[in-house]
Amino acid sequence: MSKNFWQSVILGVAMVSLCCAQSLRREADNTGTLIGTAVRPSLFLETAYASTLAREFSMVEPEDAMKWRALRPDANTYDFRQGDEVVHFAQIHQMKVRGHCLVWDHDNPDWLAHGHFTSRDLSRLLHEHITRVMKHYKGQVFAWDVINEAMDEKGNVRDSIWYNEPGIGLSEKDTAYIEQVFRWARKADPHALLFYNEAEGEGLNRKSDAIYAMMKDFKGRGVPINGVGLQMHVPTLELDTSALAASLSANIARLTALGLQVHITELDVALPIDANGVSRPDDLVREADLYRGIVRACLGHAGCTAIQTWGFTDKYSWIGSHSRHTRGQGLPFDRTYQPKSAYRAVLEELSAGRLPPH
Ligand code: XIL
Repeated sequence: MSKNFWQSVILGVAMVSLCCAQSLRREADNTGTLIGTAVRPSLFLETAYASTLAREFSMVEPEDAMKWRALRPDANTYDFRQGDEVVHFAQIHQMKVRGHCLVWDHDNPDWLAHGHFTSRDLSRLLHEHITRVMKHYKGQVFAWDVINEAMDEKGNVRDSIWYNEPGIGLSEKDTAYIEQVFRWARKADPHALLFYNEAEGEGLNRKSDAIYAMMKDFKGRGVPINGVGLQMHVPTLELDTSALAASLSANIARLTALGLQVHITELDVALPIDANGVSRPDDLVREADLYRGIVRACLGHAGCTAIQTWGFTDKYSWIGSHSRHTRGQGLPFDRTYQPKSAYRAVLEELSAGRLPPH
């Protein structure tokens, strides 16, 4: 056989494996689910980062690039450069973009957080911000976390600059300011899906009861809202996977019964790590087990339409930054972009498709 012949065989095999290899994205497409991840646009120039992202995911969400701190260097300026990079990457790779987040009490620039504005000023600033940002990304961002983490663990509306410190002037009824921001958002972009995004209210508990009650009230009164984002940062392995999955599934069931979509928005599983940043092999298996249970719980409900991890490689994860480097390795790919057991668990569940909940 000629050298050319073997060269073309090798090329052919490489092309077939490239075109038809299994990926999270392909399996999710077959299931009619979006598989997403949070991204940092400064990393798009890293080849392994960009190629893994494009191959495996059908949706991206800026980890920080669309927060007030990134978009608003001062009260009169909008800097859309980083957010636009995310949109551009997504368009080239036929991915959807989830926007995050228009209203939050964190990650705000100092001029806003410490500006001692009056309620009237804050109301004007917030209305203008929502309108301007959503109009800029109209048709490019298909779903927005309009408001993030507005409730505390007891299910009360959290103290915040937008609620009552001093608030936008609607603190007399606890959820009134939340309702207002959804109304502004709907006006700014009539077609975007509008989400309420929250932490630690994924399963059945006091917080998720309060979120459910608010959603029921909003839906009943025609407040424009399309879905709930369940963050799903799993902080510990001391959890029973089947109990967690059952509780999550029950919460998804009641939310979707209201006609809302559910997105899993910030999934990661923080593992204990040693001084070298290494976790125990058993813990990687437990991690995969938790990923599997969570993905299965979502796929059990037609209304759970997207699953998103908070980053995808352990090389770049927020977990280390908030846990003093005693926890890490929470994502589906390791630091060298090799798929972990957690990746294989997600892939298998997506391949199995949408099964009814147990
Ligand atoms: C985190 C980012 O990952 C960090 O880069 C940033 O420094 C702080 O915020 N819940 C959210 C996210 O909704 O916006 C947070 O992201 C993680 C917790």
